[in-house]
Amino acid sequence: MLRLTICVIALVSQHVVDSDDHPKGHLQPLGRHRPPVGSIEERASFPTPLEMFEKYVRGSKPVIFRGILEKGMLPAYKLWTDSYLRENYGSEYVSVEKGKKENRKWDMLNITMSEFLDKYQKEDIYMVNDASVSMTEDINMPSMLLCGGFQRVVQNVIMWFSSGGTKSVLHNDGLDNVNCLIDGEKYLVMIDKKLKADVEETGWILNGQYSQVDVEKVDMYKFPKFRNLPWYEVKMQKGDCIFIPFKWYHHVDSKKGRNLAINVWIHHLSKFNASDCNATPTDENRFVSVAKFLQDNKKIDLRDFFLGELEDKEFIDWSFFEDLLKPSGQERADLKKLFGDLDADGDGKIVEHEVMMADLTRILKQLPTLQALVQGENPYDTSDQEESLAESLDPEDIMEDYTENVFDDVLSEDLEHFVNSPKQTDTSRDEL
Ligand SMILES: *[C@@H]1O[C@H](CO)[C@@H](O)[C@H](O)[C@H]1NC(C)=O
Ligand SMILES: *[C@@H]1O[C@H](CO)[C@@H](O)[C@H](O)[C@H]1NC(C)=O
Repeated sequence: MLRLTICVIALVSQHVVDSDDHPKGHLQPLGRHRPPVGSIEERASFPTPLEMFEKYVRGSKPVIFRGILEKGMLPAYKLWTDSYLRENYGSEYVSVEKGKKENRKWDMLNITMSEFLDKYQKEDIYMVNDASVSMTEDINMPSMLLCGGFQRVVQNVIMWFSSGGTKSVLHNDGLDNVNCLIDGEKYLVMIDKKLKADVEETGWILNGQYSQVDVEKVDMYKFPKFRNLPWYEVKMQKGDCIFIPFKWYHHVDSKKGRNLAINVWIHHLSKFNASDCNATPTDENRFVSVAKFLQDNKKIDLRDFFLGELEDKEFIDWSFFEDLLKPSGQERADLKKLFGDLDADGDGKIVEHEVMMADLTRILKQLPTLQALVQGENPYDTSDQEESLAESLDPEDIMEDYTENVFDDVLSEDLEHFVNSPKQTDTSRDEL
């Protein structure tokens, strides 16, 4: 009887749609306009770092790693029950969005983990939280990111936690993304970045990189290019990790029930330098906490300093470079050498990928006054520190703690979500 009823309803609604002659999928959830063109590649193991780079990062190819967390490589997978989180991180403050359907209004709560755990099964809230150092001790670095340059461009780990039923906007990110599902199920609609002209034709918000399309009710008249948009379907289960390439469009739904994921953001690497890979074991079960890399990378203010400059220009040439770093009091010869180190291809222009690839930790050790300069504590400069920094940055981006700011900036540009400082507007590096 029930089946018959469903059948009749299905026939009736089919009939209604046909006779109204609306485009298929009109006012329905994203993806109903046509069957998916397929699903993405599935693997049971992580690739080597080189394969990761060539096939997936440079090849811009999404891939899902089925059941990979069952192999025991991510301690959080087994550890992160509510009681463990309460016991270990209960007093830490976390960022929580009001509303499970994403609206990009950045209406955030700042509450403790314990308060979140008390509320999340009952209230319409979604934790989107930049994992603290102690939390990231429970998260290992995916083995395919341990060498070649990936390890230097890992930016942060975000924790996504709710009782399910969340819906993200359709958006893309200016970073590569490895997302692992610790609990629950997620459903993704993914659209190739090559379809930019169609996806972004109407209602695209540049400042935030998302579509205004209502993912639950696609208006095929307002978004005519969506009528035939090819898409990929991904069903993630607990224990799966997915690689979402830089700039691929995606919309993420989570199914009802406890839902907990972490994702690792990585700057988009444009060159792979395999020279450290022989000496670095990268077998899948190797456990190295991601905390170590995040801490190392957060110290590299110099990278963000240069990337900040590269937001509104394509390259940095010697004369600009010299003016920029002169206030550090560093010898001209040292600066010249640094310029040469950064300008890997020797064309006289430092571009983004060269900044990303440079071993800035080593460089900073050799030129410690640069560290002071980029942190706004220049011992050689008597002018107001905040002001000298302010000149080189968008005033909106200035916060008291520059280190924190750099960190937030990375988040804000890509952004699924604006995690720590809702007031900040994003200066997207994506447009480079
Ligand atoms: C690759 O990295 C090594 C150090 O790990 C460095 O000596 C070499 O110059 C780098 N090569 C390129 C092309 O950047
Ligand atoms: C959250 O609130 C605590 C306590 O008031 C504060 O110390 C912390 O800085 C706040 N965090 C954010 C991101 O605003």
